[in-house]
Amino acid sequence: MNVNDVKNVCVVGAGNMGHQIALLCAIYGYKTTCTDVVPEALKKAENFANTYLPGRVEKGRLTKEQAEAARKNISFTSSLEEAAKNADYVIEAAIEVLDIKRKVFADLDRFCPPQAILATNSSAIVSSRIADATKRPEKVVNMHFFNPALVMKLVEVVKGPHVSDETAQITMDLSVKLEKVPVLIKKEVDGFLLNRIFGVISREALWMLEMGIASAEDIDKACVYGAGHPMGPFRLMDLTGIDLAYIMATERFKKSGDLADLPVPSVTEKYVQGNYGQKSGKGWYDYTKK
Ligand SMILES: NC(=O)c1ccc[n+]([C@@H]2O[C@H](COP(=O)([O-])OP(=O)(O)OC[C@H]3O[C@@H](n4cnc5c(N)ncnc54)[C@H](O)[C@@H]3O)[C@@H](O)[C@H]2O)c1
Repeated sequence: MNVNDVKNVCVVGAGNMGHQIALLCAIYGYKTTCTDVVPEALKKAENFANTYLPGRVEKGRLTKEQAEAARKNISFTSSLEEAAKNADYVIEAAIEVLDIKRKVFADLDRFCPPQAILATNSSAIVSSRIADATKRPEKVVNMHFFNPALVMKLVEVVKGPHVSDETAQITMDLSVKLEKVPVLIKKEVDGFLLNRIFGVISREALWMLEMGIASAEDIDKACVYGAGHPMGPFRLMDLTGIDLAYIMATERFKKSGDLADLPVPSVTEKYVQGNYGQKSGKGWYDYTKK
């Protein structure tokens, strides 16, 4: 199998990441089915496709024909079996909970054709923790997009010890077909490349806030105006989700037992309050005001 054999893509999860990954695949000519267990998430993803595509035409980024073709390429269903049955390549972008991902992959293994590659977009769970839930571990791989997936160019491909050369190559090639810039991570490592680097910045920023050294706004300003980052760590966390930051830190702690890995108190507080960032209207910043 090579990348040209990939025609049908299934995206599992229509949340923050999944709805954009699915639309991206549809824009680049893949017949894409997007599935989620929450019907409202699917409706929201469909509404997004219906407004995003005409918007791209207005901006001159897509022709009317390209937008129409993309809309035809994408469909939405709450049935995983339906979404997976013709898939050549699956990108799982469901919630960051290991047991849920393992169950999704076990189901995908039953529903997908035998040649299908099963990729996870997980930010932190390496695919070897999921691969053994299937009978095709050599076809289970990390394909990590960045938020927003329609815009950000980087894709991290993690080649765990169980991943075949063919699976890694097809995943790299598929990323290029989607006009992304893939990087190959040759060993499974916590945080992959970029989150490992940014994790250090984010942890430092959180503790500076916690110790009352500066406000979230001023720490963000320092990163933007001093280091040239497009946004500071707090604004970025609001975009990617404080819930995700909480879950990732908790998972890290479960593995390491190191108290330093626990989410800092202010992250726990926001998680408990349901203030996840942009998606809930409030996080480090307030998005309910104009
Ligand atoms: N948010 C980010 O910036 C970001 C960036 C890169 C990777 N990721 C990863 O992408 C994945 C999704 O993150 P997100 O931010 O889109 O989360 P999200 O909470 O916005 O969306 C997750 C979606 O998964 C759905 N879901 C839950 N269980 C499911 C199941 N069994 N089957 C199908 N759908 C299910 C939920 O209904 C929800 O719509 C996570 O693994 C995360 O680590 C997130």
